[in-house]
Amino acid sequence: MRSARILGTGSCLPERGLTNAELEQMVDTTDEWIRERTGIRERRIADEGTASSDLGTVAGQRALDAAGIKASELDAIIVATITPDRLFPSTACYIQASLGAGEIPAFDVSAACSGFVYGLEIARGLIATGDARRILLVGSECLSKITDWNDRSTCVLLGDGAGAVVIGDTDPGQGILSIAVGADGNAEHLLKLPAGGSRIPATHESIDQGLHTIQMQGAELYKVAVRMLVDCAEKALAGCGMGVDDVDLFIPHQANARIIEAVVKRLSLPMNKVFMNLEFYGNTSAASVAIALDEAVRKGRVHDDDIIVLDVFGGGATWACAVLRW
Ligand code: ACO
Repeated sequence: MRSARILGTGSCLPERGLTNAELEQMVDTTDEWIRERTGIRERRIADEGTASSDLGTVAGQRALDAAGIKASELDAIIVATITPDRLFPSTACYIQASLGAGEIPAFDVSAACSGFVYGLEIARGLIATGDARRILLVGSECLSKITDWNDRSTCVLLGDGAGAVVIGDTDPGQGILSIAVGADGNAEHLLKLPAGGSRIPATHESIDQGLHTIQMQGAELYKVAVRMLVDCAEKALAGCGMGVDDVDLFIPHQANARIIEAVVKRLSLPMNKVFMNLEFYGNTSAASVAIALDEAVRKGRVHDDDIIVLDVFGGGATWACAVLRW
């Protein structure tokens, strides 16, 4: 069976920034509260006419350029998102068309903030069976479009952006070494977009009741997130016979600096092995670790043969962790 490795990375962030000072004018909050409780200073916000496929197309093209591969050479496109352009067609189909890829399989993965690492697991399987040799995996979100800008407990956390990787086949023992993936549907109440699906279709009432924006039980989710991230990282490392000491760079879901610090402490990882950029972008859900990985690569934080860990959690609840040899 062939193994899968990342051949190139890319990202795309909207130009418009939204600072904590601006949020102070919108809801009852302070820059100090947001920085102390979350570590976030700023987030990027997509223009009115921009959708997830627009950001994902740019990130995808940048990943293709970095990998030295043409869109026409791809065998599949997978997009992780909770803010698709539309419920259907998939955002992956839009990105396939705008990149000018061939008539290859294109589909979305819905696993909230864990979607990008879920997508890695699917790509790894397609490569292992020989069904694909080159796959574009994109995490893209316009969370600002499903944010309640009057709810201070969620609007300060979220941002827009996209990250992408091109995945290719390689020899066993290289690239993706291990992935642990899981979910607990009993925790669905912690984080959700209540309406707009078949349970509560869009009606005037559902809009009046504010059911088309993210609802979150932050404090409870915080505790679950720490436990999920720690357990999943330990499981993924054990899956390839490694321990925390083998890790060169740990890239966790960029939701909250305090969550990351608690996880890192429990794993006994030194902070200099942890990559964080949530200060500038906030939580971009499925795009979060993809953007962080691209930044880490472009900043020279990733070297040949390094062991990289991507560790994520999200609504569902879902969680996933990938261990890669670069
Ligand atoms: N500014 C000022 N005060 C606020 C704000 C704000 N922006 N938001 C909440 N508060 C208040 C609350 O109302 C509460 O006030 P009260 O004590 O009078 O009731 C107080 O601050 C404390 O609230 P907590 O929820 O206990 O604050 P906590 O320290 O837990 O921090 C936070 C809240 C940042 C949301 C934290 O719980 C967290 O990060 N949870 C996890 C969030 C997360 O990771 N979500 C996943 C991603 S979202 C997505 O995936 C799309």
